[in-house]
Amino acid sequence: MKALVLAGGSGTRLRPFSYSMPKQLIPIANTPVLVHVLDAVRELGVTEVGVIVGSRGPEIEAVLGDGSRFGVRITYIAQDAPRGLAHTVVIARDFLGDDDFVMYLGDNMLPDGVVSTAEEFTRHRPAAQVVVHKVADPRSFGVAELGPDGEVLRLVEKPQQPRSDLALIGVYFFTPAIHEAVAAIEPSARGELEITDAIQWLVSSGADVRASRYEGYWKDTGKVEDVLECNSHLLDGLTARVDGHVDAGSVLVGRVVVEAGARVVRSRVEGPAIIGAGTVLQDSHIGPHTSIGRDCLVTDSRLEGSIALDEASVTGVRGLRNSLIGRAASVGTTGRGTDHHCLVVGDHTRVEVAA
Ligand code: G1P
Repeated sequence: MKALVLAGGSGTRLRPFSYSMPKQLIPIANTPVLVHVLDAVRELGVTEVGVIVGSRGPEIEAVLGDGSRFGVRITYIAQDAPRGLAHTVVIARDFLGDDDFVMYLGDNMLPDGVVSTAEEFTRHRPAAQVVVHKVADPRSFGVAELGPDGEVLRLVEKPQQPRSDLALIGVYFFTPAIHEAVAAIEPSARGELEITDAIQWLVSSGADVRASRYEGYWKDTGKVEDVLECNSHLLDGLTARVDGHVDAGSVLVGRVVVEAGARVVRSRVEGPAIIGAGTVLQDSHIGPHTSIGRDCLVTDSRLEGSIALDEASVTGVRGLRNSLIGRAASVGTTGRGTDHHCLVVGDHTRVEVAA
């Protein structure tokens, strides 16, 4: 089996971060989403991975390389514009050949894994096997109607009146039967070749299409709130490890990771939390549920439920919560005695100060 990982999307819902980095590289528990995805693929025993990239391809290649660091072999496949998930299957035809494959959306996190679904697919080999999860509002997803034995009766992309609450959650297993389907469908109202329509085409033509329910934790990391929530969830599974330096005046409570070269000085870190390599934490209180990237500087601050990306600095700010701080961004104070805020705010940035 091969894998097709989709990392071509532009990430408009994750602005301003997606202006400066592909959304699939946003770190969750200090590891890019795409690396979590590659781990999940390798867990299935799949090592041949095609990665679909758009205009942000070079940045993705710089992080993933040839895949050997992650135990896989990567072939990059360029998509000229976001023309839909089914379009990626069309352009990956040479890479996929006549092999079965798992298609995995590069911004979807299923940390509990899909090993049992892969086994089910290999055992029964239906034309397609989709992964579904119960959601409160299915209208922004592909929605599946299932028969009593998990057979798919109907699939609709983003229905206004959903006939079930089971959403497609970004992982699909296919036999080569999908190639005929992606060639047969027309673009949807949003102008894209939808994989949901291609699978529905298989259903309509009488092919065996099955669904597996995923009962674990799932998150599409397309929005800031979702990134923060997913980060908290992954940190809950953290194993404490101290490779950096923690001075005698500091306290670590619960599951805390201090990476190599990090220094914790006169500070309190409440787990679960990660302090990235090379970061300096001084006179601060961090956590719980907080990830600080590499080479950051945090002094005189209080930060909780947040993520700071590499090289960010936070100085003298005592009430940061549920915040996502970008690469090399700095958050500070205007100094004692001043009564104003001073902001340099980029496009599509959001600032919320205490009322
Ligand atoms: C895509 C699929 C949709 C699926 C969703 C999962 O939607 O088209 O069927 O439910 O991913 O994240 P998009 O993110 O392109 O709107």
